[in-house]
Amino acid sequence: DTIINKEGKEKVAKEIAAKMKDGQIIGVGSGSTVYLALIAIAERIKKDSLHIQVIPSSLEISMTCIQLGIPQTTLLDKKPDWTFDGADEVDPERNLIKGRGGAMFKEKLLICNSSETYIIVDESKFVTQLGSKFPVPVEVFPISLLYAEKELGALGAREISLRMAKGKDGPVITENGNFILDAWFDSIESSLERDIKSITGVIESGLFIGYDVKTLNI
Ligand code: A5P
Repeated sequence: DTIINKEGKEKVAKEIAAKMKDGQIIGVGSGSTVYLALIAIAERIKKDSLHIQVIPSSLEISMTCIQLGIPQTTLLDKKPDWTFDGADEVDPERNLIKGRGGAMFKEKLLICNSSETYIIVDESKFVTQLGSKFPVPVEVFPISLLYAEKELGALGAREISLRMAKGKDGPVITENGNFILDAWFDSIESSLERDIKSITGVIESGLFIGYDVKTLNI
C-alpha cells in the first residue's frame, strides 16, 4: 500500500514539475507530498536549465530546497505565480484542513498570495465532512492559551488539546514561537474559520474554507 501510494505521489509530483515555466516564482507548502514534488522540481530545473525561485512555507522545506539546490526568495521580495501544497482533509467543496505539520500560517499566507493553488491529495484525504478525521489546528500566542481555549469551547469545540512535542519535553513551539491547540468540532460551518481568527491571541488556523484551490489526485 505504501509503495502504491509512493508511486502515486511521484506521478503527481512529476505533473507539478511539468507546470513550471522559466522565470516563475513558486510557493511551496509543507509535508511529505510536497517533499516528493520538490525532488521532481529540482530534477526539472537541472534538466531544462530553468530559472525558478521558490518561497518555502517552513524551515524544513527551506532546508530541503538548500539540499536540492533550488533557489529561494521571500514574500517580501516576490509574489508567487502559483503555489502547491498538501492537505490533511478535503471536503467535496474543496474546503481543507491543514496543519498536521504545524506550518499552516505560512501555508495560508502563500495561498492567499497566489492566484493559482494546487493541492496534492490521495484518496485517504477525502472526507464528506471536515473535522471527521483531523482536529482543526489553531496557532496561538503562548500567553493567550487559556483565553483561546475558553473561546474555542464557546465556538463549539468538544475537545481541545495542546499539541505536545516529540523528542523534546513540553509543547510544540511553532517557527513563529507559538503553541498549537488541536480542536475537535462536531460540525464545521463556513463562518468557523473567521470566528476562530477573531479570537484575540489566535495567529491562524488550519481551516481553509472557500479558497479557490484545484486538487491533483494521487
Ligand atoms: C503541514 O503543516 C500540512 O499542512 C501538510 O500540508 C499536510 O499535513 C499534508 O502533509 P502530507 O503531505 O505529509 O500528508
